[in-house]
Amino acid sequence: MNENSLFPEKILDCLKRPGGNQDDIMEIVEGGLKCLNTGEFFPNERSIPFLFKETDGDRKHITNTIKDFYEDNPFPSYEGLEDFGNLVNKGSSNSFSNELLQSIGFNKLILECGCGTGQLTNFLQLNNNYTLGIDLSLSSLSLAIEHKTRNELSRSSFAQMNIFNMAIKDEVFDVVISHGVLHHTFDAKRAFAEIIQKLKPGGIVVIGLYNRYARIMTWLRSKLIPFFGPNIDYVIRNKAIDPKKKEIWIADQYYNPHETWHSIGEVIKWFDENNIDYINCSPPILGSHTNNSPDSLFTESDPVGSYERLITQLGWISSISREGALFDVIGRKAS
Ligand SMILES: C[S@@+](CC[C@H](N)C(=O)[O-])C[C@H]1O[C@@H](n2cnc3c(N)ncnc32)[C@H](O)[C@@H]1O
Repeated sequence: MNENSLFPEKILDCLKRPGGNQDDIMEIVEGGLKCLNTGEFFPNERSIPFLFKETDGDRKHITNTIKDFYEDNPFPSYEGLEDFGNLVNKGSSNSFSNELLQSIGFNKLILECGCGTGQLTNFLQLNNNYTLGIDLSLSSLSLAIEHKTRNELSRSSFAQMNIFNMAIKDEVFDVVISHGVLHHTFDAKRAFAEIIQKLKPGGIVVIGLYNRYARIMTWLRSKLIPFFGPNIDYVIRNKAIDPKKKEIWIADQYYNPHETWHSIGEVIKWFDENNIDYINCSPPILGSHTNNSPDSLFTESDPVGSYERLITQLGWISSISREGALFDVIGRKAS
């Protein structure tokens, strides 16, 4: 792989040393990255840019356990040897990723925290966007980089980093996304506070979390799977084709070593405490849009009251619970 193709200039400018400063200048050198200010060299690990720094404090064992889990189960994996055409078709037919790309628009700098095997990071580099996906798991990142390299995607890039110690300057990205990730950290609220530091004022944050009410169904299935087998899962019956991908889905959903569940109200509180203005929720909250078909995922809507939010989330027990019970909340950093 040509090392210069690992990071486009625009993304390289956003990087700093792990634990470093806003004025750090990072450059690509043979076998890794180097900080021009200090001369420190960060050698690639298995050909993957390595800017990992451990979580501080006594709960770092959770980060390490999650890292080991996703080293064994790179999620969500690809359906065999997918080319970029397959990925674009899949991304365009998935209403969430398609609406996300349309809402983001063109020429943006996008950070995906916990990118897994990099499908979304590779998809969102369409529209002349520049994307950086970071993750703990080297085996996930190596699939992401394999896909990027094989399909010559010059605007997506990847590095091993820890959300709790990102080697990224503050306030440099237009959009920060973390989909299905923060609930696997030891403190989702703290992880949220970390990732929004990387967002420019006026930038958009998209957070996808397991829902406190809808996820109960997954918990119930986890008790039944040992007796009835994986076919009680909707995705296994109807969606996943590749046997390896099926195996990884079951491990991720039912045998994950650490997950927490969250409500819409809780995320709105995080927003309030961190100067983020609420924009929207996906799926939408009942009664939150003035017309029934919002123009875009980023169209401003009303967070309505706690009663409507409770009814919405109880309704999710029979809808999004089939596919992991993930909901996304979208906000804008105050300028
Ligand atoms: C369920 S996967 C989601 C992957 C992808 N976002 C998606 O929606 O398919 C969760 C990912 O979060 C990553 N992750 C968990 N804790 C992390 C942390 N502290 N720093 C970086 N990545 C983390 C894991 O390694 C894993 O790849």
